Amino acid sequence: MSASATQRLGEPDHERAREPRPPGHTHDAFALEVDDLWAGYPGQPPAIEAIDVRVPVGEIVGLVGPNGAGKSTLFKSILGLVEPLRGEVRAFGQPIRDARADVAYMPQIEEVDWDFPVSVNDVVLMGGYRRLLPFAGWSRDDRERATAALEQVRLAEYASRQVGELSGGQRRRVLMARAIARGARLLLLDEPFAGLDAAVQHDLLEILDELVKGGRSVLIATHDLACVASCSDDAICLNKRVIATGPPATVLTEEVLSRTFDRHLLTVGTVNLSLAHDEHLSAD
Ligand SMILES: Nc1ncnc2c1ncn2[C@@H]1O[C@H](COP(=O)(O)OP(=O)(O)OP(=O)(O)O)[C@@H](O)[C@H]1O
Ligand SMILES: [Mg+2]
Repeated sequence: MSASATQRLGEPDHERAREPRPPGHTHDAFALEVDDLWAGYPGQPPAIEAIDVRVPVGEIVGLVGPNGAGKSTLFKSILGLVEPLRGEVRAFGQPIRDARADVAYMPQIEEVDWDFPVSVNDVVLMGGYRRLLPFAGWSRDDRERATAALEQVRLAEYASRQVGELSGGQRRRVLMARAIARGARLLLLDEPFAGLDAAVQHDLLEILDELVKGGRSVLIATHDLACVASCSDDAICLNKRVIATGPPATVLTEEVLSRTFDRHLLTVGTVNLSLAHDEHLSAD
């Protein structure tokens, strides 16, 4: 693609009906509050620095940033899977360690060991992370919730299949079903849409829509800027630090996206999204 050419990244076919916030509106309840969070890995400078995040109850907040920006590290440090260097995390007003039952986490698909011999149904039933250990003592309620969640992501007929036999998109849907089945009030979803076909992505967005209408709250990391523009109540641009945060229309600007994605130059409308001057997408 030439420097002047523009490649359409895709126009979302799903525009969420978002309640406009009245002027001067302040939220009285937050599902997630992150204050001055720093985290990283041994022997390296911090991967994320001074992060402040708010996820209001009943809203979707989209987290965007380039590869290596620290999105997954942010999720893991929120959950304590990566020990924060400093900072505070509260879910529903409580320290996160006291609210874990109310938080569901969908890891990035690459983080999960899919070779473990368990069925789709077992993965949806179990709440663990990384280790996919089967456990027989599920209540009828647990089982019904798992079945309903698998139906929601259109995988009911795969319930007894081994997870190792599933396609990438199906695995993602299994992880989504697991997050839904937990019944948690806050969902942390790390790239749930990558690699999904348009129809399944549309279905999952509708499911998220239903969940937030039912009062759930969602923090979602994604590379799909069009999705954030059309579906999120707020957007956060991250590149080691929070570059900007607020309603997508005010945050997803060319200036902010250029700073977030460094050398990339992006132009974004609220719904229509195009990307120009990106040699990675060159067609010629
Ligand atoms: N287990 C680890 N050990 C050491 N460094 C890590 C580890 N995981 C991530 N990092 C580093 O931390 C930084 C942030 O990585 P992270 O995975 O959080 O980025 P990301 O925004 O989720 O990227 P992507 O879009 O590729 O998923 C990167 O520089 C990465 O190399
Ligand atoms: Mg990541």
